[in-house]
Amino acid sequence: MTVLVTGGGGLIGSRIVKRLLARGETAVSLDASADQPRLDGERDNPKLRRAAGDIRDYDRLLALMREHAVERVIHMAAVLVPLTEREPAIGFAVNITGATNVFEAARHSGVKRVCYATSMSTYGDQAKYGDAHVTEESERYPYSLYGYAKLINEETAKAYTRNFGLDTRGIRIAMVFGHGRVTGRSSAMSRVISAAAVGEPAVSDVAAGQLAPVVYVDDVAECMVRICFAENLELPVYAGLSTPATLQEAADIVRFYVPGADIRFADDAVSYQTVKKMDGTRLERAIGYRLPALERRILDHINEARAERQMPPLAQI
Ligand SMILES: NC(=O)c1ccc[n+]([C@@H]2O[C@H](COP(=O)([O-])OP(=O)(O)OC[C@H]3O[C@@H](n4cnc5c(N)ncnc54)[C@H](O)[C@@H]3O)[C@@H](O)[C@H]2O)c1
Repeated sequence: MTVLVTGGGGLIGSRIVKRLLARGETAVSLDASADQPRLDGERDNPKLRRAAGDIRDYDRLLALMREHAVERVIHMAAVLVPLTEREPAIGFAVNITGATNVFEAARHSGVKRVCYATSMSTYGDQAKYGDAHVTEESERYPYSLYGYAKLINEETAKAYTRNFGLDTRGIRIAMVFGHGRVTGRSSAMSRVISAAAVGEPAVSDVAAGQLAPVVYVDDVAECMVRICFAENLELPVYAGLSTPATLQEAADIVRFYVPGADIRFADDAVSYQTVKKMDGTRLERAIGYRLPALERRILDHINEARAERQMPPLAQI
């Protein structure tokens, strides 16, 4: 099957592309540039096409889907916080109009299903939910422009299903950690792990007690690929899989693997608004995938950071 991945050069998108290729699918990876260095390892794979394009350009999307006879789309291209808040016009053009272009081009090119990344940021802050886990049924109260844009994506996707019969499936992705995640406050956990993994001091600008539902980048990629091919899906949008963890807990796990890791929290470290607990059990059942333990995934993160510096991997204890 031929699958178009928008944002295929990105942190999550590139891992989706690699998984598609490993399954034997043909992957068209669209990103701002055709360079997409994260996919260099697949350079000689005849089933990979790296394409340059902007999702704000509807004609480009339509031409690409038709040229490659794309059957399914995994839409990951977006701009993230803080850019969406500092540059709302860019944020809305890419994250709302760009996403709508993807649905529209899919509608006109015979694509069977569009899967897309939405976000836990559509829920806003845990204060609205008391102690409860948020679920697919929870009301949503985004506070960031980024979160509002994702909420609009979900409603747009549902309208394309209702009005044109396009099969659309969204996952509200939790806070992603993984080597290479560097922008925004929610990347604090990733920055700490990547630095400590290679013996560098790590100073977190986010408070030790910051609790968030977290998920490892490879697990998000796996969920997106599985939902792309899953049959008998019940819901148009699923709450994503995650494990609630504080930064302190993550730092303690890192110290377990890297004894003496120099991890500190800045005196003026801040907290940010987020939900703390998201119930992903319906997605878990729908795609038949369970998250590995957080300890295991932090070790994977550590070892990816070490591999980049030609350092030997640490063993699971
Ligand atoms: N990282 C997280 O914690 C998180 C959480 C929830 C949801 N998500 C969503 O997952 C998706 C992927 O996020 P990521 O963490 O891999 O981010 P990323 O920035 O690594 O990847 C996004 C990719 O989209 C590309 N892109 C941006 N604007 C584009 C445009 N106009 N046209 C074509 N390509 C464009 C970028 O070049 C980049 O390669 C996004 O939709 C994001 O909103 C991420």
